[in-house]
Amino acid sequence: MSGRTTVSVLLPPGSAGAALVEDVRRGLASQPRTLPPKWLYDDEGSRLFDRITRLPDYYPTEAERSILLAAAPEIAALTDATTLVELGSGTSDKTRALLDAFTATGRLTRFVPVDVSEGILREAAEELASTYPDLTVQAIVGDFTLHLSHLPSDHRKLVAFLGGTIGNLYVEERGAFLGALADSFAPGDWLLLGTDLVKSADRLIAAYDDPGGVTEQFVRNGLRVLNRELGADFDEAAFTYVPFWDPHMHRMDLRLRADMPQHVHVPGAAIDFFLASGEEIRMEISTKFTRDTVRDELGAVGLEVVQTWTDAAGDFAVTLARKQAG
Ligand code: AVJ
Repeated sequence: MSGRTTVSVLLPPGSAGAALVEDVRRGLASQPRTLPPKWLYDDEGSRLFDRITRLPDYYPTEAERSILLAAAPEIAALTDATTLVELGSGTSDKTRALLDAFTATGRLTRFVPVDVSEGILREAAEELASTYPDLTVQAIVGDFTLHLSHLPSDHRKLVAFLGGTIGNLYVEERGAFLGALADSFAPGDWLLLGTDLVKSADRLIAAYDDPGGVTEQFVRNGLRVLNRELGADFDEAAFTYVPFWDPHMHRMDLRLRADMPQHVHVPGAAIDFFLASGEEIRMEISTKFTRDTVRDELGAVGLEVVQTWTDAAGDFAVTLARKQAG
């Protein structure tokens, strides 16, 4: 490990297990039964998501990449950050466009990738430190919904939250998350937010219901996680994948519907319940925004939009916002 790379682990061992139990107890007791999407991303889920990003009808990844490649020099010129933080950084693949542009200005001294996956993060941190020898890489193994207070505050920072991941949060979680993020900012700090945009239901459904069933496998993997981690006995074969567009909530709603009645036991969470035939479990949401809803939600927490970029087709937006004084 190079001298300029550090990795801080904020997730105590076992904390993921306790959080999963808590989420499963609360989520499976609510109506419709709901599981927080973050539990879809075990190793197998991350591998399946990676395949999703290469599906022909899944446009967000390439749309955001094209925006970042085109806009990165402008983003670097508009902002005066000396630290770049990336929430949910994964392999930091698309972030390289930003790092290239920022290191070219000579102002950026530090990169802080934050992710729950320690293995991926350690690899990415090593890689980045060797590609950008002038950069100090301070990786944080942590959950961006819990550990925002650990972000550096001694430098002017830009926090990048890309991929449309914010759309995975429920509306009240989103407000709480953005509020906590803004609270961790000094006046003048920057947010760069990637959001998928509202478009025709046909295109949205095509993006979340590929003919090869990769997205379906990704969503079904959520039941496998519960069976493995909590000893649950979901009959995985007895569910149908039901993705739909909710025009009132502006979100894709990805569910599994029980094909027959089942009594489900979840010993690891000390619960069991009856699933009626036709009853659905909501496994993931993917909220879609407009420029106005992004501006309103950021404005509500004191982050003022400075500029918005979209791809040529207008499918995806990257928004730069700045924390206001007071
Ligand atoms: C990783 C949350 C951005 O919402 O589009 C893709 C996840 N789920 N296909 C999205 C996902 C099914 C993805 N995000």
